Amino acid sequence: MDDATRQRAWDAAGAAAAALVEDGMQVGLGTGRAAAAGVRALARRVTDEGLSVTTVATSLQTEALARELGLTLAPLSRACEIAFDGADVVTPTGLVIKGAGGALVRERVVDDTAGRFIVLVDEPKVASHPSSWGTLPVAVLPFAADYVAAQLADLAPTRRPDHSDDNLVVLDLRPPQGAAWHPIMARVRALPGVVDAGLFDVATEDVFVGEPDGTCRTLAELIAEGHTFG
Ligand code: A5P
Repeated sequence: MDDATRQRAWDAAGAAAAALVEDGMQVGLGTGRAAAAGVRALARRVTDEGLSVTTVATSLQTEALARELGLTLAPLSRACEIAFDGADVVTPTGLVIKGAGGALVRERVVDDTAGRFIVLVDEPKVASHPSSWGTLPVAVLPFAADYVAAQLADLAPTRRPDHSDDNLVVLDLRPPQGAAWHPIMARVRALPGVVDAGLFDVATEDVFVGEPDGTCRTLAELIAEGHTFG
């Protein structure tokens, strides 16, 4: 599927999430292409309907987009009523891997504060196991990065050349094919110097799966309809 076709699917998911926002809410804005689609849909509602919201951005990139579109940005001094963000892969049990864009720490914080956290994907991102994506990003204090990488040598860490917006080193781990990722996540998070890693758990009702034809259904609905995923 080409990028333009996939973007139409992410636009559909983003519009469905933005449609849930109500006047006066604080909205958490994720990072990446699907999240940007949600940001654009929200900005259209602000412009067209006079919706009044404040927003919290999970990256400098998203902050710039929100500012360009005229959204009101706020620091994270209170909880978000709703937040939306993309994902790298989602399983039918609601296991979500995030962090290809390096924003996983802020994404976790916003997810945690949010009354509802919606994940925006298209069908190719739904897979039976996270191994189909393959990597688990880990955000680490620069001081501890070499130590953490050595501790995780069996998971083949590679270090990204650029630091995150919060000046953290990002290591991409490659768990063996078919491995259980929750125990790996627990092991990684227990290491001193690790700030967070990119495994999230989300209710399938909160995973919005967009289609290129502009429709959107939740992962829970697709599963109930008997859909199978690769
Ligand atoms: C950012 O750190 C990530 O968690 C993104 O949300 C994720 O990589 C999905 O990005 P796309 O929507 O661009 O694929």
